Amino acid sequence: MNLVERELTREDIIYLLNSEGEEQNQLFIRANELKNNYFGNKVLLRGVIELSNHCRLNCLYCGMRKDNKELTRYRIDNIEKIIEIAKVIKSNGLNSISLQSGDDYSYPISTLCKIVSNIKRETGLHIILVLGERKKSDIEKLKLAGADMYILKLETVDKIAFKNLRPETSFEKRFDLLKFIKDTGYETSSGFIVGLPSQDVEDLADGILLLKEFGINNASVSPFIPSDCTPLSSLPYGNLNLTLNTLSVMRLVLGKINIPAVSAFNLLDTYGQSKALNAGANVVTINYTPPENAIDYIIYTTNRHIVKLMAAKDLLDSEGLESGLII
Ligand code: 5AD
Repeated sequence: MNLVERELTREDIIYLLNSEGEEQNQLFIRANELKNNYFGNKVLLRGVIELSNHCRLNCLYCGMRKDNKELTRYRIDNIEKIIEIAKVIKSNGLNSISLQSGDDYSYPISTLCKIVSNIKRETGLHIILVLGERKKSDIEKLKLAGADMYILKLETVDKIAFKNLRPETSFEKRFDLLKFIKDTGYETSSGFIVGLPSQDVEDLADGILLLKEFGINNASVSPFIPSDCTPLSSLPYGNLNLTLNTLSVMRLVLGKINIPAVSAFNLLDTYGQSKALNAGANVVTINYTPPENAIDYIIYTTNRHIVKLMAAKDLLDSEGLESGLII
């Protein structure tokens, strides 16, 4: 099939998502070629600080869900400590920082705004927020404070599955918030989990087309990881091949956007992140959460795969890639 010379239809996308064997190789090669055309062999490294693992929600798949009483909860709200970490990220040569938390409404917006404005003033880093469904007024305040991008994953576009998996929220509300984020002037990022119960390739195809229509700036895909202490702990892992296919198709359909090789790929396969980098991904995230907290930021499973700076550099070296893509 002639992959990018013409617009891919929904049928093309479904076909490609199902590809196996030699057809799958061709898909990866094409996605990787496109990535190389856009970014050469440069990878964008992002530093992440996980500010809080408190969450008001009870998403069935997530280890940070409110009802998981096994988890030791923490909140890092010492502004100086966070600025120090941001300076380390800067001095390590990264130009982008991601501040993440659960849906933690008790994390004061005034503190978040101070963190954002101080990081901007003292480091000039590109600031990404991954703070869940905060109030619209909070989203505006954080933009004014200096944030550049907001990640709000849709997880799945099947509205009924969404409601079952995220009982306190709705697809409509989340997508409306994503539109609001865009209208507020943020760069946007969204994405999906592959392998959620009742999901099929049609849902993934519709999701990718929705992000295209939306005009998303960054997109991601993670395999479903059955997390301990969640109602879905006994389900099978998401399929690596389907997750990689989804990543490649995102690259073909969404063009010159940033797509991370998320650490969860390495929970499925020792070379999972390398495979993602060879299937069209151009971003690797490095964890800078203080180690005493990072062990409790458990989204997926108790065996977290925490990517530190050296591991990320080794990963890039092994694939002949270089850090330093500037956004
Ligand atoms: N498997 C895969 N991804 C998950 N996330 C949360 N729980 C899981 C899981 N069990 C992802 C969601 C969320 C991000 C922080 O982690 O995409 O947005």
